[in-house]
Amino acid sequence: MPERILIMGGSFDPPHKGHRALLMAAARELAPEAVVLAPAFQAPLKGLPGAPAGVRVAMLRALVSGLPKGLRKRCSLDLSEVRSRRKVYTVETLRRLARRHPQAEFHFVVGSDSAASFHRWRDPKALRRLACWWVGARPGAQAPLPPGFHRLPGRFPDISSTDIRLAAATAGKWRKLVPKPVAALIRGRKLYGLHILKELEATLKDSRFQHTLAVASIAVRLAERHGLDRQKAALAGLLHDCGRCMTPKQMVARARAWKVLAPRREDLIRRAPKLLHSYLSAELSRRRFGVDDPEILSAVRKHTLGGATMSPLDRLLYVADAVSEDRTHPGAAGLRSLAFRDLDAALAACLEAKVAHARSAGSWLHPLSHSLWARTRR
Ligand SMILES: [Fe+2]
Ligand SMILES: [Fe+2]
Repeated sequence: MPERILIMGGSFDPPHKGHRALLMAAARELAPEAVVLAPAFQAPLKGLPGAPAGVRVAMLRALVSGLPKGLRKRCSLDLSEVRSRRKVYTVETLRRLARRHPQAEFHFVVGSDSAASFHRWRDPKALRRLACWWVGARPGAQAPLPPGFHRLPGRFPDISSTDIRLAAATAGKWRKLVPKPVAALIRGRKLYGLHILKELEATLKDSRFQHTLAVASIAVRLAERHGLDRQKAALAGLLHDCGRCMTPKQMVARARAWKVLAPRREDLIRRAPKLLHSYLSAELSRRRFGVDDPEILSAVRKHTLGGATMSPLDRLLYVADAVSEDRTHPGAAGLRSLAFRDLDAALAACLEAKVAHARSAGSWLHPLSHSLWARTRR
């Protein structure tokens, strides 16, 4: 009888209880002689920092260590994709394994999302020839299975690695979604933005830190609603006020020392130095946290005064900062619900309120804010 090998691939960033449930159900159904876990090498994410390949491998080993003994002893990690340090298609991995085990019968297990995108994988025909495909459907999943796929018995938790990364970065609930040893590694190595959170908590006033969390959280929800990148929105929200760790005097000194390019910088220094914080936050994001994504840095830079041009992420962060849950002034709740219906209308309403406030208080309005307000009224 040919050897039966069960394979599970993925970036495992991080591995979670959904992976474990799939693995255990497939092992029960198929009783394989061997189980191969093949973590992918993944290009660095542009949004929230993902875990380096070596750390993902360590987390995967931690997940395996918590499996029942009978299954654990049959598991091995195939690190060829990670070691190649390039994007490897599953069909390449399967062909390599087939050459190494010419007599084996291969079974590949995936979650609902991977099954739904299977038609976009490299060479689905060859993939079907090389292995038998199994899917663990999430509760309520209605989509028909791709041709040739088999459904694993049971119901599988609706967990995604992206959601775990987002929850970690926005101080949300994620620990129960991963096995304990994996959670310990995430906490210990401060993965998925936890290092940023920790530093912000230590350097910002508590009310500013709570505001930061509220902005990151609503930025993610607005991104989801308006079809933007949730990870970039989370990171932009998290970093937007990091420059508020400085006093106005320090902001002025740092803006000069770093030659920060703020529009009408000397006016800002003289009339409203606190407004320098958005430009300094972008600079700190780059220097201290190594964020180099121009979209994220632009959104952070423009979150207070706006800009001559504003990308969808710039507009989203500007609005998120004005309508986060910690804003409790009259009208905040209305603006918040408007932001979910129409981001541009919410931006216009925020500017209208800013201009009205400056006029009634007789305070200085930066020309950038004024021209942005004038543009939204056209
Ligand atoms: Fe700000
Ligand atoms: Fe803010």
